[in-house]
Amino acid sequence: MVIAIDGPAASGKGTLAKRVAKAFGFAHLDTGALYRAVGISVLRAGGDPADAAAAARAARDLHPEDGILADPDLRTDEAAQAASKVAAVPEVRAALLDFQRRFAERPPGGAPGSVLDGRDIGTVVCPSADAKLFVTASVEVRAERRLKELRERGIPAIPSDVLEDMKARDARDSQRTVAPLRPAADAFVLDTSALSADQAFDAAIDHIGSKTGLGPRA
Ligand code: CDP
Repeated sequence: MVIAIDGPAASGKGTLAKRVAKAFGFAHLDTGALYRAVGISVLRAGGDPADAAAAARAARDLHPEDGILADPDLRTDEAAQAASKVAAVPEVRAALLDFQRRFAERPPGGAPGSVLDGRDIGTVVCPSADAKLFVTASVEVRAERRLKELRERGIPAIPSDVLEDMKARDARDSQRTVAPLRPAADAFVLDTSALSADQAFDAAIDHIGSKTGLGPRA
């Protein structure tokens, strides 16, 4: 059983994916962390994430099993910007595809299913996923959420900068030629602009239940 959750930055898809995975006892993969890890590897090697050859090399050398996905540096805005640059390189996307599909087909720990969240799970990585959600919210709401998240982590942030960064990343993610950000034709679009995290979770569980017959574990 595979559940695909896609959407733009700070739409709440990560939080939702974690909760959905927990509710069903499934394994969860935050695929954005893979792109962030590639971005950070390029930066650490002194390279430019927009350099396609350097990005492709870093993606081929990535060993996601080695713990890099838990590196706190992945959560910085610098990593997010680098991620959206390396993510536009076709060789990077191709190099990360196998790991994602293997995770979906054989979830670690023998879990009975998996939840993958990202930008292209329902369209490219797992086009035959059992349920697909496209989680979105207005850019203003998403910038507000990201600001709150940064402040909670003690990272100083300027509201107008966060909004501009969000718009820049949206533009890069939706305008790139490979796997641009867009809902799959058969995805359930969940606009969370006016929903709490609990309301978004309930709507997601309802949709997944209607597609798969699954109910959350007690
Ligand atoms: O958490 P947030 O939405 O801010 O970012 P993320 O999901 O960690 O993704 C970081 C960047 O990686 C995005 O801006 C995308 O450019 C890229 N990405 C992608 O291209 N495809 C995916 N499946 C996941 C992330």
